[in-house]
Amino acid sequence: MKKNNKSVKWKGIILAGGYGTRLKPVTKAISKQLLPVYNKPMIYYPLSVLMLAGIKDILLITTKDNINNFKAILGSGKNLGIKLHYKIQKKPNGIAEAFIIGQQFIGTSNVCLILGDNVLYGQGLKFFLKNAMSRSKGATIFGYPVKDPSRFGIAELDKNNKIKKLVEKPKKPKSNLAIIGLYFYDKTVAELTKRVKKSPKGELEITDLNKLYHQKSTLNIEIFGRGFAWLDTGTYESLIDASNFIYIAEKRQGLQIACIEEIAYNNGWISKKTLHKVARENSNTDYGKYLLNIVKNK
Ligand code: DAU
Repeated sequence: MKKNNKSVKWKGIILAGGYGTRLKPVTKAISKQLLPVYNKPMIYYPLSVLMLAGIKDILLITTKDNINNFKAILGSGKNLGIKLHYKIQKKPNGIAEAFIIGQQFIGTSNVCLILGDNVLYGQGLKFFLKNAMSRSKGATIFGYPVKDPSRFGIAELDKNNKIKKLVEKPKKPKSNLAIIGLYFYDKTVAELTKRVKKSPKGELEITDLNKLYHQKSTLNIEIFGRGFAWLDTGTYESLIDASNFIYIAEKRQGLQIACIEEIAYNNGWISKKTLHKVARENSNTDYGKYLLNIVKNK
């Protein structure tokens, strides 16, 4: 696998469509990815991952009904020093459809896709992201051991930790390694997606796209181990668990998770003046006070 090709440009896609059916009636009038995970809209969490990866050019794909709400929250991205683009997915036709919808946006760049409901947290995350981005060709997916693998796409590995097989939601899983909703692909991804056939569910499955990379022996897997949190937000129970997790971690350390303005500032993408402006706009919340503290201390 080719590494360290500095000329490769990476773009990002956040897929935040779907009907959020398992969260109804809460999601009847609002997108699941705008629901709060403790003190921030869910979308902040995947967005923060792309920003930690250093990706500034990002396409957000969502439904027609919700696109304006996302724009109201995130706008053009100027306050974060990034460029946000928006596109509509008419129906949940599958995760891999993101590359068809985003083909023009991707152009000749490599691309990282993150699902809008994935919350990731842990030391070393940046290292994992940079490692995946150092591969200019092929794709990288991430495995995470779970108790209930039949709910996810899973990977079976051989003795050398190489992928043997990928299966989407197996009834009798032979591995406990779930594939999380974060994927890195080279510039051929849109063309390759065109070879993916609709599944019996009528969707372009992300697992089928990954299988194509695997067949070409260009699919890499990285494993997140202990001490790393990948949180699910698809049900009431998992949503409140995710909120509690963020609440406890932030309260204990006094550090915010997925504070997108802090990340933008640390990346050198926004000035102290812009940070101060956002802090003042939120000054009656802990979030605003946290930002104000950064303005004062740095
Ligand atoms: O979260 C990781 C898992 O995500 C992977 O392990 C699976 O391989 C992958 O298929 C996917 O499984 P899910 O059961 O979570 O997929 P779901 O259909 O719930 O979609 C995940 C998110 O993506 C959800 O928030 C809605 C959004 N979505 C989904 C589809 C199919 C879209 O925006 N558009 C779509 O067409």
